[in-house]
Amino acid sequence: MRVAMIGSGYVGLVSGACFADFGHVVTCVDKDPAKIEALMQGDIPIFEPGLDDLVATNVKEGRLSFASDLTEAVRSADAVFIAVGTPSRRGDGHADLSYVYQAAREIAKVMDGYTVIVTKSTVPVGTGDEVERIVRETRPDADFAVVSNPEFLREGAAIADFKRPDRIVIGTDDERARKVMAEVYRPLYLNQAPILYTGRRTAELTKYAANAFLATKITFINEIADLCEKVGANVQEVARGIGLDNRIGGKFLHAGPGYGGSCFPKDTLALIKTAQDADSPMRIVETVAAVNDQRKRAMARKVIAACGGSVRGKTVAVLGLTFKPNTDDMREAPALSIITALQDGGAAIRAYDPEGMEQAQGLLDRVTYCDSAYDCVQGADALVIVTEWNAFRALDLDRVKGLMKAPVVVDLRNIYRAGEMARRGFLYVSVGRPD
Ligand code: UGA
Repeated sequence: MRVAMIGSGYVGLVSGACFADFGHVVTCVDKDPAKIEALMQGDIPIFEPGLDDLVATNVKEGRLSFASDLTEAVRSADAVFIAVGTPSRRGDGHADLSYVYQAAREIAKVMDGYTVIVTKSTVPVGTGDEVERIVRETRPDADFAVVSNPEFLREGAAIADFKRPDRIVIGTDDERARKVMAEVYRPLYLNQAPILYTGRRTAELTKYAANAFLATKITFINEIADLCEKVGANVQEVARGIGLDNRIGGKFLHAGPGYGGSCFPKDTLALIKTAQDADSPMRIVETVAAVNDQRKRAMARKVIAACGGSVRGKTVAVLGLTFKPNTDDMREAPALSIITALQDGGAAIRAYDPEGMEQAQGLLDRVTYCDSAYDCVQGADALVIVTEWNAFRALDLDRVKGLMKAPVVVDLRNIYRAGEMARRGFLYVSVGRPD
């Protein structure tokens, strides 16, 4: 199969490299010539474990190439994937589909022979219909089908998620398109990944429903954590107690500072808008988004309380800036709101993150960025764990205590044990667990 991937951002690059690894011939296209130039030199613009090796191997084997013009790639492709960004539109929270529609127009102009156009970007219900209309309008004679094939991969585990998915969702009523998609995913079919064939609108909505459900699960356990703190219960044990029920499932029940990232905040907002427009409001998701927003600042108040009611003139060390570990992504990271609120309260911030500091520097002012976790805690009045990087779990805590001015630790990811921290002489606060 020949595959063209339009958009070489996160989803496009990972999917393109994985399709090439399945044995298909893939061209990843991007409008940004600097990005394509860098990719040709072997520079991967994002941090994703294993991606650089996967790209290098497939480029070497001649199955993966890059281009800033889509003409050649689209002309010869059996399947053209649209994997461009769909950011939140300023002002109204709707997904901005201008990049998707522009890609559709450009694909239509150059495609040749029967072509399956696949939206992989997360797009609201009905976008496939509009893509089809645009292509038909641009090329009335074209032989094509538009398919929705949402992506469910997680940053930091993207390659494993792509190669061993829980399911693949393919939305189309076109029989020929189904055959092409079955061929594209044949290696996974052999791995027995369930493939769900649905209508196009159903596939589009499935993606939003999945992300909104996961965001709801996290928000639910976060509120249970708050209640645990009030009534003296342990949220980790509650999560295990409910998660062992197969109907609930144990995943995505880790209480923390609220969800962030490029997907949950944006997709919940877009679903809320779609539902309002369809006169079928999703009150649960509206509440989830509002509760999650408030939570980030509430975490700063937790730190202030642990510091005796004020951080004015104090130094707070923040370990972990990215929205989760194993990524350099700072989009909607809880650290942004928490740090800003602590600065508003008069604190000086020292911070360290294994991968996120470059991106953080463009987003946060007046932060002292440190070379290591130990450097970060030097002279601090409090330490806050915001992202659960593995390296922070293994810190020499006695050394940490020796470096700090006051031994206060606020662990927003529950990576340490309360009893052990108390034994070592820390004043230790975590999320939803008895202190
Ligand atoms: C999410 C979904 O998990 C993917 O299935 C989906 O494909 C992707 O969005 C997308 O739409 O592209 P991602 O945003 O990479 O993936 O990250 P997650 O691992 O889902 O984490 C999201 C946020 O939830 C993070 O801030 C994380 O710290 C938080 N989280 C997650 C919790 O606070 N508790 C949990 O139990 C799990």
